[in-house]
Amino acid sequence: MAARVLVLASILIFSCFAETCYGVISFSSLQRTLVVTASHRQGLLKAGEDKITVRWGLNQSFPAGTDSSYKTIKVQLCYAPISQVDRAWRKTEDHLNKDKTCQFKIVKKPYTNVNETLEWTIERDVPTATFFIRAYALDSDDHEVAYGQNTDAEKKTNLFEIQAITGRHVSLDIASVCFSAFSVVSLMGFFFMEKRKARKSQQ
Ligand SMILES: *[C@@H]1O[C@H](CO)[C@@H](O)[C@H](O)[C@H]1NC(C)=O
Ligand SMILES: *[C@@H]1O[C@H](CO)[C@@H](O)[C@H](O)[C@H]1NC(C)=O
Repeated sequence: MAARVLVLASILIFSCFAETCYGVISFSSLQRTLVVTASHRQGLLKAGEDKITVRWGLNQSFPAGTDSSYKTIKVQLCYAPISQVDRAWRKTEDHLNKDKTCQFKIVKKPYTNVNETLEWTIERDVPTATFFIRAYALDSDDHEVAYGQNTDAEKKTNLFEIQAITGRHVSLDIASVCFSAFSVVSLMGFFFMEKRKARKSQQ
């Protein structure tokens, strides 16, 4: 009985340990073996309207078999450093479970060893920010094993800006708040002037 409990406990402890070991995948440990490019029209892109053409494939300068463990490809839209400043909820962490750089899924599909192309319409819930595109290769356990992105390691080149669908409404809202503040102030001014006038005429 005691032995069984002991075995059970050790299995439990061991599986927890294995779980955490497996869970810790750091971005810096991944090899950049995928080539990712993104093409789109020039200028500010509009969420819900504009399209981005994403291409990805294995960098042919890696030896054959590099991709033998790749089962799935996951392509994501990621925040550029300029849009992460002072925003903890978009922070880059080396520990991929905690990383918040890439929050928007573009596609997740089985890996094939040929170049692939996808035309993606920017989803309506994408906020106003500067972005890049990253693809992860996942193994049969759905763990990241390699990546590629359309920007350099510093995330400075080929970035693009997206304007949220509500962008126009937000600026309209700001304008109307300003107008209301202005009218309240002028109303108060008018009220005090009237009061002063009334007091003067009483004296
Ligand atoms: C492919 O990989 C090589 C070696 O890592 C690298 O020098 C080259 O820039 C990569 N090509 C592309 C298009 O990323
Ligand atoms: C994928 O595209 C790159 C350049 O765009 C090319 O060098 C490579 O040979 C292509 N790979 C395949 C498997 O077609």
